[in-house]
Amino acid sequence: MQITKTLTTAPKAKPEGALGFGKIFTDHMFIMDYSTEKGWHDARIVPYGDISLSPASMVFHYGQEMFEGMKAYRAKDGRILLFRPEKNIERMNNTNRRMCIPEVNTEDVLQAIEELVLVDSDWIPTQEGTSLYIRPFIIATDPFLGVHPSHTYKFMIILSPVGAYYASGLAPVKICVEDEYVRAVKGGTGFAKVGGNYAASLKGQEKAEKMGYAQVLWLDGIEHRYIDEVGAMNVFFVIGDKIVTPKLEGNILPGVTRDSVINYLKAKGYNVEERRISIDEVYEAGQKGELKEMFGTGTAAVISPVGLLDWNGKKLIINNNEIGEISQMLYDEITGIQFGNKKDEFGWSYEIKR
Ligand code: COI
Repeated sequence: MQITKTLTTAPKAKPEGALGFGKIFTDHMFIMDYSTEKGWHDARIVPYGDISLSPASMVFHYGQEMFEGMKAYRAKDGRILLFRPEKNIERMNNTNRRMCIPEVNTEDVLQAIEELVLVDSDWIPTQEGTSLYIRPFIIATDPFLGVHPSHTYKFMIILSPVGAYYASGLAPVKICVEDEYVRAVKGGTGFAKVGGNYAASLKGQEKAEKMGYAQVLWLDGIEHRYIDEVGAMNVFFVIGDKIVTPKLEGNILPGVTRDSVINYLKAKGYNVEERRISIDEVYEAGQKGELKEMFGTGTAAVISPVGLLDWNGKKLIINNNEIGEISQMLYDEITGIQFGNKKDEFGWSYEIKR
C-alpha cells in the first residue's frame, strides 16, 4: 500500500512527568478513506489535528464505528516492539463484520501502524511501565439519517504515550459488582470492540466511581448472575489450585492479553478453566478462604490485581488487598515479553524495523 506522508512543521513538546492514560497525542496520525466505488484508498500520514465531518455523518447518530487498542514498546536495546498485532487486526475484522463495516487488509493495517509509529518513534516513552498506545478506529461518514450501513468510512490511527491505566498503578483496584445495569448480551455486540459497549457501561461506571470504586464488574445480561468482564479488562479468579476465567460466549471481549495469559499459564502447567463462573461462586470461595487472587487483563490495564469486590454492600477482600503471587508473576512475564526483556518463547513479539 502506498502511504503518502505530510510531516508537521510544528512538532509539539514531549510530555514530562507522569503520563496517565490517553491524554496526550503525538504529532501525526494515519487516515484512509473508504467508498463503495474505490474501496479503501488514499492512505496518508498527516499532522495530528481536528478533522471536518458533516454533522449528519452516520457515526454521530447511530454509532456505526469500531476501535482497537494496542501498544508499541521501547526495548532497552532501542528496538520498537508490538505484541501480537495480528490478533488485534483479526479482532478488528470480526468487529467490522458484526458492524457491517468493510473489512481491512491485515498487511495494510500493519504497514500503517508500523509507518506511523516510526514517524512518531520519538514519542515512545522509555520510563518503566510506559508505552505508546495505538488506537486504530473506523467511523461511518455518510451524511444520512436513515438507519442503514454507511457507504463511506474513515479509518484512522492515533497514538498516545501512556503510563498505567489506573491512577493506582499496579496496586490492587477496588471493583463494584453491577447487577442493575448490563453492558452487553449474547447476540449483541459484547464480543466486538465498539464504542456502544462502552457508552452502555458509563452509567454503571459513574455510579461505581461515586462510591469510590475504580471499575464495574459486569454480570450477564439475562440472569445477572454470571461474571462477564470489567469493561476495560477481562477477569481471572485463582480458586484453590485452579485459575478460572469466563468463557467466550459472545458477550465478552476476546482480549489479546486474556488469550496470552491463558496460553502462558497452560504452557507452564497451571490448571486453567474457561467456563461460566457466578458471582455467588466467587463469594462462596472467598468465604471459604479458597479465593486466592483475582486480576484483570487488558492492553491498557496489562495485569491489574483486584483487592476488593463490593456486591450490593457485601464486601469481599481478596488476598488481603495485596498483589498476589500469580498476578505479579504474570505482570512480570507478560511485560517482560512485551518489552523484550524475557525470552519470547511463544513468538508474540513483533519488531518494527526501519
Ligand atoms: C484496551 O485495553 O486497549 C482498551 O481498549 C480498553 C479501553 C477501554 C481503555
